[in-house]
Amino acid sequence: MYFRKDRDDKRRYFIVGSVILEVVTPLFRTKLEKDYTSKGLTTLQTFLNTQPVLHILFHLRHRHARCCVDGRNCCNHSALPLIHCQWKRLYTEKPGYFLHDCHCKFTANPVQLEDLDITLSSLILLNCNKLTPADDAAIQGLRQYKNDYLSHNTTGRISQTEYKSLWTDLTNFVLHLDPSKQDDLIRIERRPLDESLCNSYTLNLLDIHKKLDEMGTSIQGIRSDMEGQYANMQEILLYIRKDGCTCQCGKSELQDEDQTYIKQYTLGQDVFQLHHQINLTSEIQNDVYGYVTDIHDIMIMDDGRLVLCLPCQHRLLICYTNESRVDSMHLQGEPVCVTSINDSAVAVKVWYIDWYIEIYDINNEIKLKSIIIPGLLQWGGITTIINKLVVCVEDRLQIIDHQTGEVVQTIQTNCDPDKVHGSGGRIFYCDYDNNLSWYSYSDDRHHVLTLPSKPKGMTTLPDGSMYVVCKDESVHVSTDGKQYKTVKTEELRKCECLAYNPKQRKLVTLNINQRRVNIFYEK
Ligand SMILES: *[C@@H]1O[C@H](CO)[C@@H](O)[C@H](O)[C@H]1NC(C)=O
Ligand SMILES: *[C@@H]1O[C@H](CO)[C@@H](O)[C@H](O)[C@H]1NC(C)=O
Ligand SMILES: *[C@@H]1O[C@H](CO)[C@@H](O)[C@H](O)[C@H]1NC(C)=O
Ligand SMILES: *[C@@H]1O[C@H](CO)[C@@H](O)[C@H](O)[C@H]1NC(C)=O
Ligand SMILES: *[C@@H]1O[C@H](CO)[C@@H](O)[C@H](O)[C@H]1NC(C)=O
Ligand SMILES: *[C@@H]1O[C@H](CO)[C@@H](O)[C@H](O)[C@H]1NC(C)=O
Repeated sequence: MYFRKDRDDKRRYFIVGSVILEVVTPLFRTKLEKDYTSKGLTTLQTFLNTQPVLHILFHLRHRHARCCVDGRNCCNHSALPLIHCQWKRLYTEKPGYFLHDCHCKFTANPVQLEDLDITLSSLILLNCNKLTPADDAAIQGLRQYKNDYLSHNTTGRISQTEYKSLWTDLTNFVLHLDPSKQDDLIRIERRPLDESLCNSYTLNLLDIHKKLDEMGTSIQGIRSDMEGQYANMQEILLYIRKDGCTCQCGKSELQDEDQTYIKQYTLGQDVFQLHHQINLTSEIQNDVYGYVTDIHDIMIMDDGRLVLCLPCQHRLLICYTNESRVDSMHLQGEPVCVTSINDSAVAVKVWYIDWYIEIYDINNEIKLKSIIIPGLLQWGGITTIINKLVVCVEDRLQIIDHQTGEVVQTIQTNCDPDKVHGSGGRIFYCDYDNNLSWYSYSDDRHHVLTLPSKPKGMTTLPDGSMYVVCKDESVHVSTDGKQYKTVKTEELRKCECLAYNPKQRKLVTLNINQRRVNIFYEK
């Protein structure tokens, strides 16, 4: 009798388990597939890579994160329903995205529908798909039954009483989602206990192996993340500190590191000394009135090369900070400002018969892309933030994906932004007043600091503070953006634009009238 009851409890567990694995799991996968194919997406990977889906799933795994795009839809879930191994199965970090702990640095793996178990497929359905309230309730109910009766129950038994209440709901939910499953349910309910199949189902249904997996990989993950990111620790730390954003991996370790790694400068302190100069006289000609009008902007790449714009000559000038050689690259239009995208590519704002943003590979001297942005402001600069381009249009900043040319975010400003500079979760911009303004991703707000004269250019130093070139004299602005002091270093007090590169630890300035580039090294 006792044996009999135990065997029945076990058979009931087997039946419920069979329904979950043989009926519900494929049902969820099919529903998901139907949903994304109806949107014109051909694979699960493409669906997972759409920005809204990636964004939602990212926040189901990452707490306290503020994303660089679509910030308004960021969530801060107290529980994280997506576990480490599930997240790893779905997404991989793209190389080179280190600055932000944000969804934009991930890309979907080539996952198949068959890779999704009921927990994962229901999580995606419930969070990323538009469901009718009844479908939503059915999916939630089925998922809940799996958790209540199967995932955590190591005994592998379901009693008669539990089964009675459970079976009615289970079949109702399934039939609501797909009425054609009636026959399958009947077949399964009559099925005798198959011990070996039941054992394999039990293992499959228990979440324990996943939990072990999660613990194992996350401990390893922290180690490799830490090693891989050590070189970029400075940027990450700056971001954490300035914007109060926590890094997903090993926050406490990062904060310990903080004390020793970052050197905080005293405001106005003499940080740089002039190392050498590049004389550009032979490269630049005066215009008919004797003015030097044809040199704009300066940028320093990670390998120490400088890129300058010579609009009248339709070329980019490429100077080396370590030797006297000067190269140039001819363009069709007139380049006016430039920013670096990666080790070989730069984005340039160019005028032909309209304004374009063009991407050039300066190693191979080829144009990679030409992007037209309606309303691009004539005086507006360009910059990058987290591997995206920032451009100025009327009353707003636009964040552009330089690979696709798409506008991924629009940030409203109260002025026509002029010079721009992106750094550590903030986009600094100038208007036609003496104000230096910035938009901060961490609080989704704009801030302002009024300077003694109009700002013309800015760059961030390793401690997160900034040098801002103003019309009358340069100032050193504190990391929190609340204070400033006049820059003491004589050669830095007057110039037209400047740029710092943290890999080179070099600061470069452009003095247009003297046709000179100054190269400064940290003291
Ligand atoms: C997320 O919530 C926690 C408390 O639950 C809070 O301390 C933290 O600042 C929040 N983070 C963001 C980015 O909203
Ligand atoms: C597992 O299920 C059995 C039978 O329904 C029940 O008596 C037991 O309490 C459950 N165990 C857990 C850990 O939920
Ligand atoms: C720069 O070079 C030009 C000629 O190429 C020369 O006349 C001028 O004196 C140089 N300026 C400096 C400061 O060395
Ligand atoms: C200067 O830097 C460039 C770019 O990194 C490199 O290719 C070149 O060999 C360097 N030249 C010297 C003289 O070190
Ligand atoms: C640099 O960016 C360009 C433009 O998006 C891209 O085509 C190129 O593959 C990138 N190169 C590297 C080394 O990442
Ligand atoms: C510049 O800042 C001052 C002080 O914060 C403010 O009163 C003024 O309106 C600002 N000007 C613009 C154009 O935002």
